[in-house]
Amino acid sequence: MRRKVTIVGSGNVGATVAHRLADRQLADVVLMDILEGIPQGKGLDLLEAGPIEGYDIRITGTNSYADTANSDLVVMTAGFPRKPGMSRDDLLKANFEVVKGAVEQVARYSPECILIVVTNPLDAMAQAAYKVSGFSKNRVMGMAGVLDTARYRTFLAEALNVSVQNVQGFVLGGHGDTMVPVPRYTTVAGIPVTELLPQDQLEAIIRRTANGGAEIVNLLKAGSAYYAPSAAVVEMIDAIFHDRKKILPCSAYLEGEYGIHGLFVGVPVKLGSRGIEQIIEIKLTPEELAALRRSAEAVKELVQVIGV
Ligand SMILES: NC(=O)c1ccc[n+]([C@@H]2O[C@H](COP(=O)([O-])OP(=O)(O)OC[C@H]3O[C@@H](n4cnc5c(N)ncnc54)[C@H](O)[C@@H]3O)[C@@H](O)[C@H]2O)c1
Repeated sequence: MRRKVTIVGSGNVGATVAHRLADRQLADVVLMDILEGIPQGKGLDLLEAGPIEGYDIRITGTNSYADTANSDLVVMTAGFPRKPGMSRDDLLKANFEVVKGAVEQVARYSPECILIVVTNPLDAMAQAAYKVSGFSKNRVMGMAGVLDTARYRTFLAEALNVSVQNVQGFVLGGHGDTMVPVPRYTTVAGIPVTELLPQDQLEAIIRRTANGGAEIVNLLKAGSAYYAPSAAVVEMIDAIFHDRKKILPCSAYLEGEYGIHGLFVGVPVKLGSRGIEQIIEIKLTPEELAALRRSAEAVKELVQVIGV
């Protein structure tokens, strides 16, 4: 039997995730949104591409959670963008209300699902989803690290004029200004990147990675990135559905790992059919660990505002 994925929020990220899932025939897809007609219209449009693309998965759109029942996996992209005059805290509270209401319905209709949170502020929304759903911690995760790492790898490959596939590495920490790239663990065809790029160039790439989201927002003027974010979500779904045991950086609930307690922060995890099957604890220098804990502190401040 084919798997079922529900995508809550049929905006740019949600619809593009649906598109990628269809192209890869990973699951039947239900697009859900509060806007009437939008998920239905996008779902039908994607379905009608099937005969040309050669996929015959089911794609439907709905405004009712009853149609999402018994999903194997739910992607949470519902939320508001920041509007002029809105503070970060206002946005935080508004998106918390959206995620809270949506996760309550998801937990009711798909009590066994794995939940991938995308809505920003990412780590705080993942924490909200975890607390509201009551799911075990292996079934709730946030997407950020795969995207941030993809941006980092892109810029490194460009600077070195090599294939992106040769560049391996990861980004730790919360999604945002406090993310922690770890150049010591970044390699190009097995060669440490610190041997290949001067320190100042590496630092410039790390800064550009941390501002990767804002760089796209400034170019688009309206809206934020969705091609790379949706690709990152689908890489996580592929790892889970194929039980790949793939090590990817994801926002995960830490209970003492890296000295962080009771918070979602980006760390390398092993993704397989049970979701987060292991949190990988790598050795960090005191400076790297301090940067990770600073990042966790930033997440903690947000989580305290919404009380989860
Ligand atoms: N984690 C990351 O790395 C990352 C990357 C890109 C975007 N994002 C975040 O993902 C979210 C979605 O981004 P987007 O570009 O798709 O935005 P978008 O505005 O295009 O789509 C959001 C959709 O959510 C819907 N929505 C709002 N309230 C809802 C509710 N209560 N129930 C169901 N649907 C609801 C809206 O109608 C809209 O269609 C944003 O919060 C964005 O900041 C995160």
